[in-house]
Order: sequence, then structure tokens, then C-alpha cells
Amino acid sequence: MNIITKTADGSNTLYNETIGEHYHSKHGALQESKHVFIDAGLKFASAEKSEISILEVGFGTGLNFILSFEYCTLNNIKLNYTSIEAFPLTLDVINQTGYSEYVSPQIWSDFTAGYDKALTETQNISPLCNLEIPHTTLTEFSTDKKFDVIYYDAFSVQHQPEMWSDEIISHACSFLKPGGTFVTYAITGKLKRAVKANGFTIEKLPGAPGKREMLRATKAEG
Ligand SMILES: C[S@@+](CC[C@H](N)C(=O)[O-])C[C@H]1O[C@@H](n2cnc3c(N)ncnc32)[C@H](O)[C@@H]1O
Repeated sequence: MNIITKTADGSNTLYNETIGEHYHSKHGALQESKHVFIDAGLKFASAEKSEISILEVGFGTGLNFILSFEYCTLNNIKLNYTSIEAFPLTLDVINQTGYSEYVSPQIWSDFTAGYDKALTETQNISPLCNLEIPHTTLTEFSTDKKFDVIYYDAFSVQHQPEMWSDEIISHACSFLKPGGTFVTYAITGKLKRAVKANGFTIEKLPGAPGKREMLRATKAEG
């Protein structure tokens, strides 16, 4: 059961009773998504690109997706977005988040019109965006595609330690292109070692409000 709750910046999040955790930072869902995934991830990785592919771990409410879709549309960047989700929310719940306020009506309607079908196959939801939401776990996920960016947005290590094991991080990193960017809201010594072991250089960046630091890592070229 998921309960809608308000975070400190006024944006909503969901509280997952089974896991015992919110989908976003209690200090601000919207500001966390913008800070970690859009500013440190997408803007960094898409500079001078006309097309970008993103793999997200944990689609959830789609907040990271709609902000990415809007950014790419405004900047004329073709977005190919794949987001793994083990427990997809219903469209009804997504419509209750209030996130339609944060993007244009066109972006919101393209997203919600394609959402259910994107759970089974890739949807061309606008001339500048393809969306697919494989309904599977990260462990079970496999593809021949390689991505420019990974948004690693799993529940925290305290609540879902299996999503932060060396093996699963290595599995996720295997889907990134050489030179690709891995971003996540978290940073621990174990995570840094796991990412480095896969040939990445790491950067500690200032975290979103409520977190001192976050991780951005770049995969070695070739
Ligand atoms: C922190 S929330 C993600 C928030 C999301 N990015 C958003 O903007 O709303 C973590 C997500 O991971 C999903 N999840 C949990 N276990 C998973 C697994 N093994 N593989 C893939 N997704 C998983 C949860 O259902 C949840 O939607």
C-alpha cells in the first residue's frame, strides 16, 4: 500500500508501507529529482548531444521521467528512456501525485496516454521521446541496448540492501556505454568501491537538501 505524503518543498511523494520508505526525499521530492537526476545527470551528460538514452532503476511515479522528458523537449534532444520497475503503480495513483503541475500539459498528457502500454512495449509518446518501462526486477532485466546515463533510484540500502550489492551494481553498470554517466542520490564507501571496481571514475557532488553528498560516476572510455 502506498500513501501520498507531502515533502518539505511542497511536492508530494509516496510512502511504501511494505518497504517502510518514501519514494523520494522527505526534504523535497521535486528538488531531489531536479538536483540529482536532471542537473547532475541529464544536463551533464546531454551537453552537445541531440539524442540521449537513459536507463532508470525504479520508475515509480515517473517524476524523474517527466522532468527529463520536458528538459529534452525544450532543448530539442531525442530521449530514449527505459525504466525498470518491479511493482508498477496504477495510472490512477500516478494521477494523484500532483506532478502534472511541474511540466507542460502536453508533456503530462503524452506521458499518461502512453504509460500503461509502455509497461509492455516501447511507446513513441512524442516525436522526441520513446518510453519503455520493463515490468521486471533489475536482477531479471537484460537487453542488448547500451545507455548514455543510468539513474539509479532504488530504495535505500537500509530498506532494500539487495539493490546495493556489488553484484547488482555491476549488473546495472554493464548496461552503460563507455564514457556513460551513473548518478544516484546515495553515496557510501561500499558503493564507491563497487562502482570503481567496474572501471568508473567517481565524483562526490553536493547532495540534494537533506544529504551532504551524492555520487556521479563516469565509465571508462573503450
Ligand atoms: C525510490 S523509488 C523510485 C522513485 C522513482 N524514480 C520516482 O521518480 O518516483 C524505488 C522504486 O524501485 C522499485 N523497485 C523495488 N524493487 C525493485 C527491483 N528489484 N527492481 C526494479 N525496481 C524495483 C520500487 O517499486 C520503486 O518504484
